[in-house]
Amino acid sequence: MYGNGVKTRPTKCVASVEEIDYDHKQLVSLINQVVTASQDHLAENIVPNILDELIDYTKYHLRREEKLMEEYEYPERVKHAAQHVKFIDKINGFHTEYESKRKMKNEVVFDFLRCWLIKHISNTDQDLGAFIKAKRSNPDSH
Ligand SMILES: [Fe+2]
Ligand SMILES: [Fe+2]
Repeated sequence: MYGNGVKTRPTKCVASVEEIDYDHKQLVSLINQVVTASQDHLAENIVPNILDELIDYTKYHLRREEKLMEEYEYPERVKHAAQHVKFIDKINGFHTEYESKRKMKNEVVFDFLRCWLIKHISNTDQDLGAFIKAKRSNPDSH
């Protein structure tokens, strides 16, 4: 069962920056779609498709955050982006493993991705969100 069948609550994902919050909501929605689809015995072909969409959207979102960090000269951007890079490497590693063995446990990929995203969104991204929010409301303060 994907994510032990437990859905993620979006309440901890608010970073108070419109475009980041929008992406996080999309990501949580996709995570929950995977959980729902995996509970449906007809979902064999659906889950891998949603998982691919989730991976693509995650990559898009991380790039978007990295651009914002550059734009706002976020002091922690190197450290923050390094977490993104490590995550992408791991996801690409899963893909390589899948390509070479032609078998891959989607549950393993999903559980890693879900845990990483929720932890990252509710910790590391909170600091980034607070920084950008402060800078937008008072551009001369930094
Ligand atoms: Fe994020
Ligand atoms: Fe991030």
